Amino acid sequence: MNPKEEARKLYFFFFFVFFYVFVLRGCFQLSEATKDSSVGRVKLQNRRIGSSVVFPVSGNVYPLGYYYVLLNIGNPPKLFDLDIDTGSDLTWVQCDAPCKGCTKPRASQYKPNRNILPCSHLLCSGLDLTQERPCDDPQDQCDYEIGYSDQASSLGALVTDEFPLRLANGSTMTPHLTFGCGYDQQSPGPHPPPPTAGILGLGRGKVSISTQLNSLGITKNVIVHCLSHNDKGFLSIGDELVPSSGVTWTSLASNLPSKNYMAGPAELLFNYKTTGVKGINVIFDSGSSYTYFNDKAYKAILDLIRKDLNGKSLTDAKEDKSLPVCWKDKKPLKSLDEVKKNFKTITLRFGNQNNGQPFQVPPESYLIITEKGNVCLGILNGTEVGLNDHNIIGDIFFQGVMVIYDNEKQRIGWISSDCGKLPNVNQEYGEDSSEEAYPRGFGLITELFSGTDSSKNLDADGEL
Ligand SMILES: *[C@@H]1O[C@H](CO)[C@@H](O)[C@H](O)[C@H]1NC(C)=O
Ligand SMILES: *[C@@H]1O[C@H](CO)[C@@H](O)[C@H](O)[C@H]1NC(C)=O
Repeated sequence: MNPKEEARKLYFFFFFVFFYVFVLRGCFQLSEATKDSSVGRVKLQNRRIGSSVVFPVSGNVYPLGYYYVLLNIGNPPKLFDLDIDTGSDLTWVQCDAPCKGCTKPRASQYKPNRNILPCSHLLCSGLDLTQERPCDDPQDQCDYEIGYSDQASSLGALVTDEFPLRLANGSTMTPHLTFGCGYDQQSPGPHPPPPTAGILGLGRGKVSISTQLNSLGITKNVIVHCLSHNDKGFLSIGDELVPSSGVTWTSLASNLPSKNYMAGPAELLFNYKTTGVKGINVIFDSGSSYTYFNDKAYKAILDLIRKDLNGKSLTDAKEDKSLPVCWKDKKPLKSLDEVKKNFKTITLRFGNQNNGQPFQVPPESYLIITEKGNVCLGILNGTEVGLNDHNIIGDIFFQGVMVIYDNEKQRIGWISSDCGKLPNVNQEYGEDSSEEAYPRGFGLITELFSGTDSSKNLDADGEL
């Protein structure tokens, strides 16, 4: 319920204006999907250019509603759980400055220590957010305010600090990265934001963590996520996990003021047959738990599902408010396996992708079983929540698929995958490919934490 596409009101307004201009001008003809056949050569080059950082992911669509990674920041390092969000750029953590609207105790908040960036910093102006309080003096602290489409917001200051990382090639690095120290979080909407310490912004903008790691020459600007149906998965920045074959690619919409990963046009299929819904654009947003379709696509899918359920044992469960559309069986359901045979595969077929597999969504990737034992539709009416004609595909659709956001080639790719299994990239470097590929928890350097006393971070006076 928390699509986290950046959505400050003014920004959103302009976004839609440009979006419609863009659609009317028919720029989507540029879109294409191709199956990559030259990855082998590309990979050789990549070895010289950069490595990857890989993080295990935890979380689920229901009941949690988010997926997160653990990341350490600062010196001494402190561990933060961050919601992974390809729908926004800015990474931020709850900030002890002191904090309003923080959900974590002070000891688990980030404490700034004379590392607040000035207004004149490149990434401050590159935030692309309308400045609530424009800078009078370039030496003033760089304030940011970010709003999400679920009405949650974070206000804070930009800081820079160390991010100790273990790269997939075995090296450790401690780049200085810029992120937000959020000292005022609000969530007036009906749904609380994820209780994580903050957000890991993986959008297309300058301040995005992947863009920053790329400008430092550490990784390619490529993001890979793989979320399983069983609370696990992984996230990678860099392109070493991109399979050398079998990936279907489609180009990202360009010329947009938006930093969203938008692809299209796509055709919507149900049970491998056309629904009549064509030419839709979709935003890939890991910060959204569910998928939002515009009125037309939503109605088409809902009507087809309802038609299929006619005469079956599943009947409307209006009393279950977990999601807008739920069904009950004669007995409470324990698992999707009991009912998934009553539902068909949904498919998004992008542009010209004759050689690739369209984006397939089996029932277990668009339905949930609630605590009350009902089955609910994880596709929501985007028009109803103010997304207008936008289609946002969220975590629920991403389960069991490796999704690749390739900012180097302005394209997005997917391949079905067992995301519960940790990837093994060491063989890329000619090393023994044992199950110990990531002996120390992937990108996270866990030994840094043994004996780390977080109270050490609390002495400096970091009031903002
Ligand atoms: C691993 O990659 C990083 C970043 O590209 C590079 O600086 C480092 O030298 C590499 N280490 C090894 C062992 O190749
Ligand atoms: C989707 O929401 C819009 C706006 O609230 C509403 O007019 C429309 O009937 C809804 N569609 C369906 C199929 O419920």
